[in-house]
Amino acid sequence: MSKKSAKYERLYNQLKPLLINSPSLWSQMATINAVLYHKRSDFFWVGFYYLSNQELIVGPYQGPLACQTLAHAKGVCWKSILDKSPQIVKDVEAFPDHIACDSRSKSELVIPIFNSTQKIVSVIDIDSDQLELFDEEDAEGVTKILSLLNQDFIDNIS
Ligand code: SME
Repeated sequence: MSKKSAKYERLYNQLKPLLINSPSLWSQMATINAVLYHKRSDFFWVGFYYLSNQELIVGPYQGPLACQTLAHAKGVCWKSILDKSPQIVKDVEAFPDHIACDSRSKSELVIPIFNSTQKIVSVIDIDSDQLELFDEEDAEGVTKILSLLNQDFIDNIS
């Protein structure tokens, strides 16, 4: 196992018992943000956006002030929703529609969150102030952490 995967494994193991006892989806999201943001100094912003009436609205996050609503079908988060797939952006300047909530953000990872009927209800967005921070291993590590979210909680917000 690579050093990076081993680190995600440790984060997963730390989060697992915490999330089992979470009372709500928002508590679970806030706990994931706190652990990822404080354990990864190369993560500049970690947070969730959720869909509500075709709008993408900010949920729990850690890091600098973020955009509260993301214009429809623009940017990395929306691309993840429209493509139904993770987005690994190595250089945000090279992403045509990128929405810059903070100019210090240089690279970005977005993973969609599905309900039981395969509808996307939310995304996690992680920004770094370093170029090319994210790759497939990050997408896999974060996807595994998101599997700790309670599916009933996810179904109840959709
Ligand atoms: N860059 C995102 C917007 C959210 S912020 O990075 C926190 C996007 O293009 O969708």
